[in-house]
Amino acid sequence: MKKNIAVLPGDGIGPEVITEAVKVLSAIGEKYQHEFIFNYGDIGASAIDKSGVPLPDETIKLCQQADSILFGAIGDPKYDNNPNANIRPEQGLLALRKTLGLFANIRPVAVYESLIHRSPLKEEIIRNTDLVIFRELTGGIYFGKKGKDENGSYDHCVYTAEEIDRITIMAFKAAATRKKKITLVDKANVLETSRLWRERVQTIAASYPEITLELMFVDNAAMQIIQNPSSFDVILTENMFGDILSDAASVIPGSMGLLPSASVGKDTSLFEPIHGSYPQAAGKNIANPLATILSAAMMLESFELFNEAQEIVEMVNQSLKVGSVTSDINSESGLGTSDVGNYIAESILQSSQKEVNA
Ligand code: IPM
Ligand code: MN
Repeated sequence: MKKNIAVLPGDGIGPEVITEAVKVLSAIGEKYQHEFIFNYGDIGASAIDKSGVPLPDETIKLCQQADSILFGAIGDPKYDNNPNANIRPEQGLLALRKTLGLFANIRPVAVYESLIHRSPLKEEIIRNTDLVIFRELTGGIYFGKKGKDENGSYDHCVYTAEEIDRITIMAFKAAATRKKKITLVDKANVLETSRLWRERVQTIAASYPEITLELMFVDNAAMQIIQNPSSFDVILTENMFGDILSDAASVIPGSMGLLPSASVGKDTSLFEPIHGSYPQAAGKNIANPLATILSAAMMLESFELFNEAQEIVEMVNQSLKVGSVTSDINSESGLGTSDVGNYIAESILQSSQKEVNA
């Protein structure tokens, strides 16, 4: 198989974790004889530094022409600490999501047996957690009209039925292959947009009688996700609630550096770790590359290279088991970002080939 992959390292630890994911994809390419062609583009603060804009036109073109996109991280404290900055790195990612129509952000959260003791939550609470968040990604308060006037500032939250329907159908299809349960998270006791979500989701649910639909307010969901995470299967929610809940859920497996995500659109998809740019760690070879490596595995699944994706997941499990991990997982490992990537890439090349996909 031949695939053109747009690679957008971005800011902070983005370039380091991306290097390791590319290493692992190259190992898979070599072993299974796929040709992965990597084309690099700028985005975020590093793009602003070079060209004055967070999402240069060439980057959009690169992504539109690619078969898939691998993304690192975005953000720089020099913008976070300046509320008056008109140009911000995050605008690059938001504009990319909108331009490419990446409407569904899929964030799986599972626990690793070898790490279960590391979670700040009790073992008996997190055991058996296997949930996936379907976060709407191109609507809601992120993209509504914003402004400032003499009375204050505003951010409008708007959803159309069509925006709700397309991700809802995707979430129901996913639930059908899993534990057959969807939890719609909203704030329908307060927000008009949430009431539209409830109406549309309940209408669509009627076509999926085998799937149980649960309706939950977001404040309650924030508590349940920490108190009873194994009760969830598919969580379906709007943009900002999904942003917040996915960070909350990242506490469950014990390190944010473990969680991958896929942002899916009609024509293309982007794969990225859910963690941010972690600027304090940039350039130090200490960031955990596993979330990005697992995002690369999700990309391979989207190419229907299931054995190859599975092999990456197994090698990540193996690296956790043998302790080939960065210091966020074991402060005594003495290993850096590149050691973990090398371990996984080499393990892939050394192990015998899995049965080739039919
Ligand atoms: C995420 C990030 C982004 C978001 C930021 C960087 C704009 O937090 O992907 O979750 O809020 O969507
Ligand atoms: Mn976020």
